[in-house]
Amino acid sequence: MVHFLVIHGPNLNLLGEREPAVYGTATLDSLNSTILAHAESIGVSCETFQSNHEGEIIDKIQKARKTADGIILNAGAFTHYSYAIRDALASVKLPVIEVHLSNIYAREEFRHHSVIAPVCLGQITGLGQKGYLLAMDALLDQIKQ
Ligand code: DQA
Repeated sequence: MVHFLVIHGPNLNLLGEREPAVYGTATLDSLNSTILAHAESIGVSCETFQSNHEGEIIDKIQKARKTADGIILNAGAFTHYSYAIRDALASVKLPVIEVHLSNIYAREEFRHHSVIAPVCLGQITGLGQKGYLLAMDALLDQIKQ
């Protein structure tokens, strides 16, 4: 069975209470339930993981090279400056889709640049929770090819 790893980066544990005008009112638990229900509906298995710590995210990406067929990553603010996460993604050679709940290009200038985008298959930004589900569909298509 195809297996996906969905990683939520820093501050995404506060979804629901964190800047609801930007990120919506759904909690991380409810987002994860939506993700797992979608995984079941498309016939894949899926693990979700959240960490506020760069090193823990890197450890998880490294371990995924033995366990996952693809990664969906919302790296939060690490997106904009973590060369270490970028290098981890490049090292594991798994297909990765970068997801953002908000449209990073419609926000502050520092969010307009993603250092991880060049090592990802693609990027979905600004579509809220739907972005994760679209990423799962795209990743499955890619893996089946
Ligand atoms: C985010 C966008 C980032 O710029 C921000 O630092 C986040 C969340 C998003 O999902 O829109 O933490 O990745």
